[in-house]
Amino acid sequence: SLLLFMIVFILSADYIKNRRPVCFPPGPWAVPILGNMFTVNHNRVHESLIQLGARYGDVYSLRMGQVWMVVLNSFEALKEALITQGDSVTDRPDLPLQDDLFQRRDIIFNNGNIWKQQRRFALSTLKYFGLGKKSLESVIRDEFTHCAKVFSDYKGKPFNPHLTLNNAVSNVICLLVFGHRFEYSDERFVKLMKMFDEALQIEGSIWAQFYNSFPSLMRRLPGPHHKFLDIFNDTKEFIAEEVEQHKQKWDPSDPRDYIDCFLNEIEMNKGQSDNTFHEEILVLCVLDLFVAGSETTSTTLRWAFLYMAKYPEIQEKVQAEIDRVIGQSRQPSMGDRANMPYTDAVIHEIQRMGNIVPLSLPHITSKELRLGGYVIPKGITIIPNLASALFDKNEWETPFTFNPGHFLNKEGKFVKKAAFIPFSAGKRVCLGENLARMELFLFFTCFMQSFTFSMPAGVEPVMDYRPGITLAPHPYEICMTVR
Ligand code: HEM
Repeated sequence: SLLLFMIVFILSADYIKNRRPVCFPPGPWAVPILGNMFTVNHNRVHESLIQLGARYGDVYSLRMGQVWMVVLNSFEALKEALITQGDSVTDRPDLPLQDDLFQRRDIIFNNGNIWKQQRRFALSTLKYFGLGKKSLESVIRDEFTHCAKVFSDYKGKPFNPHLTLNNAVSNVICLLVFGHRFEYSDERFVKLMKMFDEALQIEGSIWAQFYNSFPSLMRRLPGPHHKFLDIFNDTKEFIAEEVEQHKQKWDPSDPRDYIDCFLNEIEMNKGQSDNTFHEEILVLCVLDLFVAGSETTSTTLRWAFLYMAKYPEIQEKVQAEIDRVIGQSRQPSMGDRANMPYTDAVIHEIQRMGNIVPLSLPHITSKELRLGGYVIPKGITIIPNLASALFDKNEWETPFTFNPGHFLNKEGKFVKKAAFIPFSAGKRVCLGENLARMELFLFFTCFMQSFTFSMPAGVEPVMDYRPGITLAPHPYEICMTVR
Protein backbone atom coordinates (compact mmCIF):
# COMPACT_ATOMS: atom_id res chain seq x y z
CA SER A 1 0.00 0.00 0.00
CA LEU A 2 3.03 2.28 0.54
CA LEU A 3 3.98 1.73 -3.10
CA LEU A 4 0.46 2.56 -4.24
CA PHE A 5 0.49 5.69 -2.07
CA MET A 6 3.85 6.76 -3.59
CA ILE A 7 2.58 6.26 -7.15
CA VAL A 8 -0.64 8.22 -6.47
CA PHE A 9 1.42 10.95 -4.75
CA ILE A 10 3.92 11.27 -7.67
CA LEU A 11 1.15 11.30 -10.30
CA SER A 12 -0.88 13.92 -8.40
CA ALA A 13 2.20 16.10 -7.83
CA ASP A 14 3.06 15.80 -11.54
CA TYR A 15 -0.52 16.68 -12.51
CA ILE A 16 -0.65 19.75 -10.25
CA LYS A 17 2.84 20.99 -11.21
CA ASN A 18 2.40 20.48 -14.94
CA ARG A 19 -1.18 21.62 -15.56
CA ARG A 20 -1.64 23.41 -18.87
CA PRO A 21 -1.88 27.17 -18.13
CA VAL A 22 -5.23 28.92 -18.82
CA CYS A 23 -5.83 29.95 -22.49
CA PHE A 24 -2.67 28.05 -23.42
CA PRO A 25 -2.41 26.59 -26.95
CA PRO A 26 -3.85 23.06 -27.15
CA GLY A 27 -1.78 19.95 -27.72
CA PRO A 28 -1.63 16.18 -27.36
CA TRP A 29 -2.10 14.53 -23.96
CA ALA A 30 1.16 14.53 -21.99
CA VAL A 31 2.00 11.39 -19.96
CA PRO A 32 3.13 11.92 -16.35
CA ILE A 33 6.85 12.74 -15.85
CA LEU A 34 7.97 12.26 -19.49
CA GLY A 35 5.26 14.47 -21.02
CA ASN A 36 5.35 14.26 -24.84
CA MET A 37 8.90 12.91 -25.12
CA PHE A 38 7.59 9.97 -27.14
CA THR A 39 4.75 11.74 -28.98
CA VAL A 40 7.37 13.01 -31.42
CA ASN A 41 9.36 10.77 -33.77
CA HIS A 42 12.93 11.69 -32.84
CA ASN A 43 14.30 10.66 -36.24
CA ARG A 44 11.87 12.89 -38.15
CA VAL A 45 11.10 15.63 -35.65
CA HIS A 46 10.04 18.51 -37.93
CA GLU A 47 7.75 16.21 -39.95
CA SER A 48 6.18 14.92 -36.75
CA LEU A 49 5.62 18.50 -35.65
CA ILE A 50 4.03 19.42 -38.99
CA GLN A 51 1.68 16.42 -38.65
CA LEU A 52 0.67 17.41 -35.10
CA GLY A 53 -0.10 20.87 -36.51
CA ALA A 54 -2.68 19.34 -38.84
CA ARG A 55 -4.54 18.20 -35.69
CA TYR A 56 -3.87 21.01 -33.19
CA GLY A 57 -3.39 24.08 -35.41
CA ASP A 58 -0.52 26.44 -36.31
CA VAL A 59 0.25 27.23 -32.67
CA TYR A 60 0.17 24.29 -30.23
CA SER A 61 1.87 23.04 -27.10
CA LEU A 62 3.94 20.02 -26.03
CA ARG A 63 5.54 19.14 -22.72
CA MET A 64 9.08 17.74 -22.92
CA GLY A 65 9.80 16.25 -19.51
CA GLN A 66 8.93 19.09 -17.17
CA VAL A 67 9.27 21.88 -19.77
CA TRP A 68 6.28 23.35 -21.64
CA MET A 69 6.95 24.27 -25.26
CA VAL A 70 4.90 26.07 -27.89
CA VAL A 71 5.43 25.10 -31.52
CA LEU A 72 5.08 27.75 -34.27
CA ASN A 73 3.91 25.70 -37.18
CA SER A 74 3.15 27.90 -40.21
CA PHE A 75 4.77 30.85 -41.98
CA GLU A 76 2.06 33.19 -40.60
CA ALA A 77 2.59 32.06 -36.99
CA LEU A 78 6.39 32.35 -37.35
CA LYS A 79 6.13 35.82 -38.87
CA GLU A 80 3.73 37.06 -36.19
CA ALA A 81 5.86 35.75 -33.28
CA LEU A 82 9.45 36.26 -34.51
CA ILE A 83 8.98 39.53 -36.41
CA THR A 84 5.80 41.41 -35.40
CA GLN A 85 6.10 40.51 -31.70
CA GLY A 86 9.84 39.77 -31.88
CA ASP A 87 10.66 41.65 -28.66
CA SER A 88 8.78 39.04 -26.63
CA VAL A 89 10.70 36.05 -28.02
CA THR A 90 14.30 37.22 -28.47
CA ASP A 91 15.73 35.24 -25.55
CA ARG A 92 17.05 31.69 -25.42
CA PRO A 93 15.81 29.21 -22.80
CA ASP A 94 18.11 27.23 -20.46
CA LEU A 95 19.63 24.39 -22.43
CA PRO A 96 21.62 22.47 -19.80
CA LEU A 97 23.85 20.60 -22.29
CA GLN A 98 24.82 23.76 -24.19
CA ASP A 99 24.95 25.82 -20.97
CA ASP A 100 27.38 23.34 -19.38
CA LEU A 101 29.69 24.00 -22.32
CA PHE A 102 29.21 27.73 -22.96
CA GLN A 103 28.29 28.79 -19.39
CA ARG A 104 26.17 31.57 -20.86
CA ARG A 105 29.24 33.48 -21.98
CA ASP A 106 28.79 33.32 -25.77
CA ILE A 107 26.37 34.58 -28.43
CA ILE A 108 24.26 31.65 -29.57
CA PHE A 109 23.16 30.29 -26.18
CA ASN A 110 22.96 33.53 -24.28
CA ASN A 111 20.83 36.59 -23.52
CA GLY A 112 21.24 40.08 -22.12
CA ASN A 113 24.31 42.23 -22.27
CA ILE A 114 26.89 39.64 -23.38
CA TRP A 115 24.61 38.54 -26.24
CA LYS A 116 23.88 42.11 -27.32
CA GLN A 117 27.49 43.38 -27.24
CA GLN A 118 29.05 40.27 -28.73
CA ARG A 119 26.45 39.89 -31.50
CA ARG A 120 27.01 43.52 -32.50
CA PHE A 121 30.80 43.12 -32.36
CA ALA A 122 30.78 39.87 -34.41
CA LEU A 123 28.49 41.41 -37.06
CA SER A 124 30.63 44.52 -37.48
CA THR A 125 33.89 42.53 -37.51
CA LEU A 126 32.57 40.13 -40.17
CA LYS A 127 31.51 43.15 -42.20
CA TYR A 128 34.90 44.83 -41.73
CA PHE A 129 36.78 41.83 -43.10
CA GLY A 130 34.14 41.26 -45.77
CA LEU A 131 34.59 44.72 -47.22
CA GLY A 132 38.12 45.46 -46.04
CA LYS A 133 41.45 44.83 -47.66
CA LYS A 134 41.32 41.10 -46.96
CA SER A 135 38.38 40.61 -49.29
CA LEU A 136 36.33 37.63 -48.20
CA GLU A 137 35.48 36.97 -51.83
CA SER A 138 39.08 36.19 -52.69
CA VAL A 139 39.46 34.10 -49.51
CA ILE A 140 36.54 31.91 -50.67
CA ARG A 141 37.77 31.67 -54.27
CA ASP A 142 41.28 30.69 -53.10
CA GLU A 143 39.84 28.05 -50.80
CA PHE A 144 37.84 26.67 -53.72
CA THR A 145 41.06 26.37 -55.71
CA HIS A 146 42.66 24.27 -52.94
CA CYS A 147 39.58 22.09 -52.69
CA ALA A 148 39.21 21.70 -56.47
CA LYS A 149 42.79 20.46 -56.69
CA VAL A 150 41.98 17.57 -54.31
CA PHE A 151 38.69 16.78 -56.08
CA SER A 152 40.13 16.83 -59.61
CA ASP A 153 42.79 14.31 -58.52
CA TYR A 154 39.98 11.71 -58.37
CA LYS A 155 39.75 12.13 -62.18
CA GLY A 156 35.97 11.65 -62.33
CA LYS A 157 35.99 8.46 -60.20
CA PRO A 158 33.46 8.19 -57.34
CA PHE A 159 34.52 9.58 -53.94
CA ASN A 160 32.97 11.06 -50.80
CA PRO A 161 33.59 14.84 -50.73
CA HIS A 162 32.33 15.30 -47.12
CA LEU A 163 35.46 15.81 -45.02
CA THR A 164 37.47 17.79 -47.57
CA LEU A 165 34.50 20.09 -48.07
CA ASN A 166 34.17 20.51 -44.28
CA ASN A 167 37.85 21.47 -44.09
CA ALA A 168 37.47 23.94 -46.96
CA VAL A 169 34.40 25.66 -45.49
CA SER A 170 35.91 25.70 -41.98
CA ASN A 171 38.99 27.35 -43.45
CA VAL A 172 36.87 30.39 -44.37
CA ILE A 173 36.02 30.81 -40.66
CA CYS A 174 39.68 30.09 -39.77
CA LEU A 175 40.84 32.87 -42.09
CA LEU A 176 38.36 35.32 -40.59
CA VAL A 177 39.04 34.38 -37.01
CA PHE A 178 42.64 33.12 -36.88
CA GLY A 179 43.95 34.95 -39.95
CA HIS A 180 45.24 31.75 -41.54
CA ARG A 181 43.99 28.52 -43.07
CA PHE A 182 45.01 24.92 -42.40
CA GLU A 183 46.34 22.50 -45.01
CA TYR A 184 43.97 19.56 -45.57
CA SER A 185 46.93 17.38 -44.57
CA ASP A 186 47.26 19.08 -41.15
CA GLU A 187 46.60 16.09 -38.88
CA ARG A 188 45.50 18.03 -35.80
CA PHE A 189 43.04 20.19 -37.74
CA VAL A 190 41.61 17.26 -39.70
CA LYS A 191 41.16 15.23 -36.50
CA LEU A 192 39.41 18.17 -34.87
CA MET A 193 37.06 18.55 -37.86
CA LYS A 194 36.16 14.84 -37.71
CA MET A 195 35.45 15.02 -34.00
CA PHE A 196 33.40 18.15 -34.53
CA ASP A 197 31.23 16.26 -36.98
CA GLU A 198 30.73 13.53 -34.39
CA ALA A 199 29.89 16.03 -31.63
CA LEU A 200 27.18 17.67 -33.77
CA GLN A 201 25.63 14.23 -34.38
CA ILE A 202 25.44 13.72 -30.60
CA GLU A 203 23.94 17.20 -30.12
CA GLY A 204 21.14 16.25 -32.52
CA SER A 205 20.43 12.91 -30.83
CA ILE A 206 17.89 11.86 -28.21
CA TRP A 207 20.72 11.91 -25.63
CA ALA A 208 20.89 15.70 -25.90
CA GLN A 209 17.11 15.91 -25.57
CA PHE A 210 17.24 13.78 -22.40
CA TYR A 211 20.15 15.81 -21.03
CA ASN A 212 18.22 19.03 -21.51
CA SER A 213 15.08 17.56 -19.92
CA PHE A 214 16.72 15.75 -16.98
CA PRO A 215 20.11 17.46 -16.51
CA SER A 216 20.95 16.44 -12.91
CA LEU A 217 20.33 12.78 -13.71
CA MET A 218 22.12 12.80 -17.06
CA ARG A 219 25.20 14.56 -15.67
CA ARG A 220 25.70 11.47 -13.49
CA LEU A 221 24.81 8.80 -16.08
CA PRO A 222 27.32 7.60 -18.68
CA GLY A 223 26.53 8.17 -22.37
CA PRO A 224 27.67 9.98 -25.52
CA HIS A 225 26.73 13.37 -24.02
CA HIS A 226 30.03 13.25 -22.08
CA LYS A 227 31.90 12.77 -25.35
CA PHE A 228 30.13 15.85 -26.74
CA LEU A 229 31.44 17.95 -23.85
CA ASP A 230 34.97 16.41 -24.12
CA ILE A 231 35.23 17.18 -27.86
CA PHE A 232 34.22 20.80 -27.41
CA ASN A 233 36.51 21.23 -24.43
CA ASP A 234 39.39 20.08 -26.69
CA THR A 235 38.26 22.60 -29.31
CA LYS A 236 38.28 25.36 -26.68
CA GLU A 237 41.92 24.51 -25.91
CA PHE A 238 42.77 24.64 -29.62
CA ILE A 239 41.22 28.13 -29.81
CA ALA A 240 42.91 29.31 -26.58
CA GLU A 241 46.30 28.35 -28.06
CA GLU A 242 45.56 30.45 -31.15
CA VAL A 243 44.66 33.39 -28.87
CA GLU A 244 48.01 33.02 -27.04
CA GLN A 245 49.91 33.03 -30.35
CA HIS A 246 47.99 36.12 -31.45
CA LYS A 247 48.93 38.00 -28.31
CA GLN A 248 52.60 37.59 -29.18
CA LYS A 249 52.32 39.18 -32.62
CA TRP A 250 49.48 41.58 -31.91
CA ASP A 251 49.70 45.08 -33.39
CA PRO A 252 46.69 47.17 -32.25
CA SER A 253 47.02 49.50 -35.24
CA ASP A 254 46.74 46.67 -37.76
CA PRO A 255 44.23 44.01 -36.68
CA ARG A 256 44.66 40.91 -38.85
CA ASP A 257 41.47 39.08 -37.89
CA TYR A 258 38.58 38.67 -35.41
CA ILE A 259 40.92 37.67 -32.55
CA ASP A 260 43.09 40.80 -33.04
CA CYS A 261 39.98 43.03 -33.13
CA PHE A 262 38.77 41.38 -29.93
CA LEU A 263 42.15 41.91 -28.22
CA ASN A 264 41.84 45.60 -29.15
CA GLU A 265 38.39 45.72 -27.54
CA ILE A 266 39.72 44.07 -24.36
CA GLU A 267 42.31 46.86 -24.12
CA MET A 268 39.87 49.68 -24.92
CA ASN A 269 37.08 48.53 -22.60
CA LYS A 270 39.20 47.83 -19.51
CA GLY A 271 37.60 49.30 -16.41
CA GLN A 272 34.29 50.10 -18.14
CA SER A 273 31.13 48.97 -16.40
CA ASP A 274 29.11 46.40 -18.40
CA ASN A 275 32.27 45.39 -20.25
CA THR A 276 31.92 41.94 -21.81
CA PHE A 277 35.29 41.81 -23.60
CA HIS A 278 37.26 39.11 -21.76
CA GLU A 279 39.47 36.32 -23.02
CA GLU A 280 37.18 33.44 -21.97
CA ILE A 281 34.30 35.14 -23.80
CA LEU A 282 36.56 35.50 -26.85
CA VAL A 283 37.25 31.74 -26.86
CA LEU A 284 33.54 30.88 -26.51
CA CYS A 285 32.45 33.32 -29.23
CA VAL A 286 35.04 31.86 -31.60
CA LEU A 287 33.67 28.40 -30.77
CA ASP A 288 30.21 29.77 -31.66
CA LEU A 289 31.39 30.87 -35.09
CA PHE A 290 32.76 27.38 -35.76
CA VAL A 291 29.71 25.58 -34.40
CA ALA A 292 27.29 27.74 -36.38
CA GLY A 293 29.36 28.60 -39.42
CA SER A 294 31.09 25.51 -40.81
CA GLU A 295 28.81 22.47 -40.70
CA THR A 296 25.78 24.50 -41.90
CA THR A 297 27.39 25.82 -45.07
CA SER A 298 29.23 22.62 -45.95
CA THR A 299 26.07 20.53 -45.47
CA THR A 300 24.19 22.86 -47.83
CA LEU A 301 26.93 22.39 -50.43
CA ARG A 302 26.72 18.61 -50.03
CA TRP A 303 22.99 18.88 -50.81
CA ALA A 304 23.86 21.08 -53.78
CA PHE A 305 26.19 18.44 -55.30
CA LEU A 306 23.52 15.77 -54.84
CA TYR A 307 20.70 17.84 -56.38
CA MET A 308 22.87 18.67 -59.39
CA ALA A 309 23.68 14.97 -59.92
CA LYS A 310 19.97 14.12 -59.58
CA TYR A 311 18.78 16.82 -62.03
CA PRO A 312 21.35 16.98 -64.89
CA GLU A 313 19.06 19.25 -66.97
CA ILE A 314 19.04 21.85 -64.16
CA GLN A 315 22.81 21.51 -63.80
CA GLU A 316 23.19 22.17 -67.55
CA LYS A 317 21.09 25.33 -67.32
CA VAL A 318 23.23 26.63 -64.42
CA GLN A 319 26.40 25.90 -66.39
CA ALA A 320 25.00 27.61 -69.48
CA GLU A 321 24.28 30.73 -67.42
CA ILE A 322 27.79 30.65 -65.92
CA ASP A 323 29.33 30.28 -69.39
CA ARG A 324 27.29 33.21 -70.69
CA VAL A 325 27.83 35.62 -67.77
CA ILE A 326 31.29 34.66 -66.47
CA GLY A 327 32.91 32.40 -69.07
CA GLN A 328 35.92 30.24 -68.28
CA SER A 329 38.66 32.87 -68.18
CA ARG A 330 37.94 34.27 -64.70
CA GLN A 331 36.45 33.13 -61.40
CA PRO A 332 32.94 34.25 -60.30
CA SER A 333 32.43 37.33 -58.11
CA MET A 334 29.49 38.56 -56.06
CA GLY A 335 28.86 41.22 -58.70
CA ASP A 336 27.79 38.43 -61.08
CA ARG A 337 24.86 37.33 -58.93
CA ALA A 338 22.47 40.03 -60.14
CA ASN A 339 23.03 38.76 -63.72
CA MET A 340 22.49 35.12 -62.79
CA PRO A 341 18.84 34.74 -61.75
CA TYR A 342 18.65 31.03 -62.62
CA THR A 343 21.72 30.07 -60.55
CA ASP A 344 20.47 32.25 -57.69
CA ALA A 345 17.07 30.52 -57.83
CA VAL A 346 18.73 27.07 -57.84
CA ILE A 347 20.78 27.95 -54.72
CA HIS A 348 17.63 29.18 -52.95
CA GLU A 349 15.77 26.02 -53.90
CA ILE A 350 18.66 23.86 -52.61
CA GLN A 351 18.41 25.68 -49.28
CA ARG A 352 14.62 25.34 -49.19
CA MET A 353 14.58 21.62 -49.94
CA GLY A 354 17.77 20.99 -47.92
CA ASN A 355 16.00 22.49 -44.89
CA ILE A 356 19.14 21.93 -42.86
CA VAL A 357 18.10 23.66 -39.58
CA PRO A 358 14.40 22.72 -39.56
CA LEU A 359 13.63 23.81 -35.99
CA SER A 360 15.95 26.83 -35.89
CA LEU A 361 17.15 27.15 -32.28
CA PRO A 362 14.72 27.38 -29.36
CA HIS A 363 13.57 30.79 -28.09
CA ILE A 364 11.78 31.66 -24.83
CA THR A 365 9.08 34.23 -24.05
CA SER A 366 10.50 37.11 -22.00
CA LYS A 367 6.99 38.51 -21.49
CA GLU A 368 3.43 37.38 -22.16
CA LEU A 369 2.79 36.64 -25.83
CA ARG A 370 -0.70 36.66 -27.36
CA LEU A 371 -0.79 34.55 -30.46
CA GLY A 372 -3.63 33.11 -32.51
CA GLY A 373 -6.13 33.81 -29.71
CA TYR A 374 -3.98 32.05 -27.09
CA VAL A 375 -2.04 33.49 -24.16
CA ILE A 376 1.52 32.23 -23.76
CA PRO A 377 2.97 33.35 -20.42
CA LYS A 378 6.54 34.53 -19.81
CA GLY A 379 9.13 31.74 -19.59
CA ILE A 380 7.69 29.31 -22.17
CA THR A 381 10.04 27.69 -24.70
CA ILE A 382 9.16 28.50 -28.31
CA ILE A 383 10.04 26.05 -31.10
CA PRO A 384 10.08 27.82 -34.49
CA ASN A 385 9.36 25.06 -37.01
CA LEU A 386 11.07 26.73 -40.00
CA ALA A 387 10.27 23.65 -42.09
CA SER A 388 6.57 24.47 -41.78
CA ALA A 389 7.28 27.69 -43.74
CA LEU A 390 9.76 26.15 -46.21
CA PHE A 391 7.17 23.50 -47.17
CA ASP A 392 4.01 25.56 -46.50
CA LYS A 393 1.33 24.53 -49.05
CA ASN A 394 -0.01 28.10 -49.12
CA GLU A 395 3.37 29.57 -50.07
CA TRP A 396 4.91 27.20 -52.64
CA GLU A 397 3.56 25.85 -55.89
CA THR A 398 5.17 22.40 -55.52
CA PRO A 399 6.29 22.34 -51.86
CA PHE A 400 7.85 18.85 -51.93
CA THR A 401 9.42 18.93 -55.40
CA PHE A 402 12.73 20.57 -56.35
CA ASN A 403 11.66 23.50 -58.50
CA PRO A 404 13.88 26.58 -59.08
CA GLY A 405 10.76 28.17 -60.63
CA HIS A 406 9.67 28.96 -57.04
CA PHE A 407 12.11 31.88 -57.19
CA LEU A 408 11.61 33.01 -60.81
CA ASN A 409 8.89 35.09 -62.44
CA LYS A 410 7.52 34.56 -65.96
CA GLU A 411 10.33 36.64 -67.48
CA GLY A 412 12.95 34.50 -65.71
CA LYS A 413 13.83 37.27 -63.21
CA PHE A 414 14.73 36.30 -59.63
CA VAL A 415 11.93 36.92 -57.10
CA LYS A 416 12.33 36.99 -53.31
CA LYS A 417 9.90 34.89 -51.26
CA ALA A 418 8.96 35.96 -47.73
CA ALA A 419 8.43 32.34 -46.62
CA PHE A 420 12.06 31.52 -47.48
CA ILE A 421 13.42 31.62 -43.92
CA PRO A 422 16.20 28.98 -43.62
CA PHE A 423 18.17 31.51 -41.53
CA SER A 424 15.11 32.14 -39.27
CA ALA A 425 13.88 35.73 -38.82
CA GLY A 426 13.71 38.61 -36.35
CA LYS A 427 16.25 39.73 -33.76
CA ARG A 428 17.93 36.32 -33.52
CA VAL A 429 18.15 35.81 -37.28
CA CYS A 430 21.35 33.95 -38.25
CA LEU A 431 24.31 36.23 -37.61
CA GLY A 432 26.22 34.68 -40.51
CA GLU A 433 23.45 34.98 -43.11
CA ASN A 434 25.37 37.34 -45.40
CA LEU A 435 28.59 35.36 -45.09
CA ALA A 436 26.74 32.09 -45.72
CA ARG A 437 25.00 33.49 -48.81
CA MET A 438 28.32 34.73 -50.16
CA GLU A 439 29.98 31.37 -49.53
CA LEU A 440 27.11 29.45 -51.10
CA PHE A 441 27.05 31.61 -54.22
CA LEU A 442 30.82 31.65 -54.75
CA PHE A 443 31.56 28.02 -53.87
CA PHE A 444 28.56 26.77 -55.87
CA THR A 445 29.30 28.80 -59.02
CA CYS A 446 33.03 27.96 -58.80
CA PHE A 447 32.18 24.24 -58.59
CA MET A 448 29.66 24.45 -61.45
CA GLN A 449 32.12 26.43 -63.58
CA SER A 450 34.84 23.79 -63.14
CA PHE A 451 33.06 20.45 -62.72
CA THR A 452 30.06 18.40 -63.83
CA PHE A 453 28.53 16.25 -61.09
CA SER A 454 27.05 12.80 -61.65
CA MET A 455 26.23 9.67 -59.62
CA PRO A 456 28.43 6.58 -60.00
CA ALA A 457 27.07 4.21 -62.67
CA GLY A 458 23.94 2.40 -61.49
CA VAL A 459 23.58 4.43 -58.27
CA GLU A 460 20.41 6.43 -57.57
CA PRO A 461 20.91 9.47 -55.33
CA VAL A 462 19.22 9.15 -51.91
CA MET A 463 17.42 12.45 -51.30
CA ASP A 464 16.17 11.61 -47.79
CA TYR A 465 18.02 13.20 -44.87
CA ARG A 466 20.08 11.75 -42.05
CA PRO A 467 18.75 13.05 -38.73
CA GLY A 468 21.06 15.21 -36.61
CA ILE A 469 21.45 18.75 -35.38
CA THR A 470 21.53 19.75 -39.05
CA LEU A 471 19.72 17.63 -41.62
CA ALA A 472 22.42 16.28 -43.90
CA PRO A 473 22.31 13.88 -46.85
CA HIS A 474 23.22 10.27 -46.08
CA PRO A 475 26.92 9.68 -46.82
CA TYR A 476 27.37 9.39 -50.60
CA GLU A 477 30.00 9.01 -53.29
CA ILE A 478 29.83 11.23 -56.34
CA CYS A 479 31.76 11.70 -59.62
CA MET A 480 33.15 15.15 -60.43
CA THR A 481 34.32 15.48 -64.02
CA VAL A 482 36.46 18.48 -64.94
CA ARG A 483 34.65 20.54 -67.60
C1 HEM B 1 21.91 31.32 -35.76
C2 HEM B 1 20.91 29.06 -39.94
C3 HEM B 1 25.44 29.87 -41.47
C4 HEM B 1 26.47 32.11 -37.30
C5 HEM B 1 21.27 30.63 -36.77
C6 HEM B 1 19.89 30.19 -36.70
C7 HEM B 1 19.61 29.56 -37.87
C8 HEM B 1 20.80 29.61 -38.68
C9 HEM B 1 18.29 28.93 -38.28
C10 HEM B 1 18.96 30.34 -35.48
C11 HEM B 1 18.22 31.65 -35.52
C12 HEM B 1 17.20 31.75 -34.39
O1 HEM B 1 17.56 31.58 -33.23
O2 HEM B 1 16.01 31.97 -34.66
C13 HEM B 1 22.07 29.04 -40.71
C14 HEM B 1 22.19 28.44 -42.02
C15 HEM B 1 23.47 28.67 -42.45
C16 HEM B 1 24.15 29.42 -41.40
C17 HEM B 1 21.07 27.71 -42.75
C18 HEM B 1 24.17 28.28 -43.73
C19 HEM B 1 23.62 27.81 -44.80
C20 HEM B 1 26.10 30.60 -40.51
C21 HEM B 1 27.44 31.10 -40.62
C22 HEM B 1 27.75 31.70 -39.43
C23 HEM B 1 26.56 31.61 -38.58
C24 HEM B 1 28.35 30.97 -41.85
C25 HEM B 1 29.05 32.32 -39.06
C26 HEM B 1 29.44 33.44 -39.03
C27 HEM B 1 25.32 32.06 -36.51
C28 HEM B 1 25.26 32.55 -35.15
C29 HEM B 1 23.94 32.35 -34.71
C30 HEM B 1 23.24 31.70 -35.81
C31 HEM B 1 26.41 33.16 -34.35
C32 HEM B 1 23.34 32.71 -33.35
C33 HEM B 1 22.69 34.08 -33.44
C34 HEM B 1 22.09 34.55 -32.13
O3 HEM B 1 21.79 33.71 -31.28
O4 HEM B 1 21.92 35.77 -31.96
N1 HEM B 1 21.79 30.27 -37.98
N2 HEM B 1 23.26 29.62 -40.37
N3 HEM B 1 25.58 30.92 -39.27
N4 HEM B 1 24.09 31.55 -36.88
FE1 HEM B 1 23.66 30.69 -38.66
